[in-house]
Amino acid sequence: MSLPRKGRFITVEGTEGVGKSTNMNFIRELLDTANIPHIVSREPGGTPLAEEIRNVLVVPREEKMCELSELLLVFAARAQHINQLIRPALERGEWVLCDRFTDATFAYQGAGRGLSTAVISSLQDMVQGELRPDCTVLLDAPVDVGMARAGARGELDRFEQEKHTFFEKVRAGYLERVAAEPERFRLIDASAELASVQREIAAALQPQITAYQAGSHV
Ligand code: TMP
Repeated sequence: MSLPRKGRFITVEGTEGVGKSTNMNFIRELLDTANIPHIVSREPGGTPLAEEIRNVLVVPREEKMCELSELLLVFAARAQHINQLIRPALERGEWVLCDRFTDATFAYQGAGRGLSTAVISSLQDMVQGELRPDCTVLLDAPVDVGMARAGARGELDRFEQEKHTFFEKVRAGYLERVAAEPERFRLIDASAELASVQREIAAALQPQITAYQAGSHV
């Protein structure tokens, strides 16, 4: 009897307005075309309870949310998401394509808010155990480009209301993650033309797709 193939955990990251939604759809189509069983999800969110926590996180409010509350809410949503959705899907051999994951926590709560990386790492271990993305697509663009696109979408959420300097820190935080783990990340210049961004994404994911189709168990 052959072992079920292990699903791959693919995450997509980037600051606001870098084209995550468009390119998530593009990756979803790549997986459909390759006949790869998959689910698509997002963080914070992905289950009804985690989506409720997302709402608490993103809706602007008068009371200032303290940094630690923000961090713990992000991980509370993540614990639920992993338990209810991500692990079961990976165990069924499906791929999980997720719009943001813990790299966003290192970038937003760590680099952006200034919370300790050691604290985030220990929460990561506690909540995720060994679970880490197999491959992370980072859509990178100058902050001005992304902020202009996000602004054009209408009302800004609690994060989008942050200032330019906050997003500069977030972007730098993401780039530090890439430097620390270059083998996991696919760094894509999201300020280029969409067709060329998508060519790069397709080329970046092809080795994973080919290995899966060949029946590799890793
Ligand atoms: P979205 O706009 O990409 O849907 O994500 C909602 C916001 O949540 C986004 O501004 C980034 C923020 N976020 C964090 O601050 N930390 C995290 O760990 C995650 C997953 C998202």
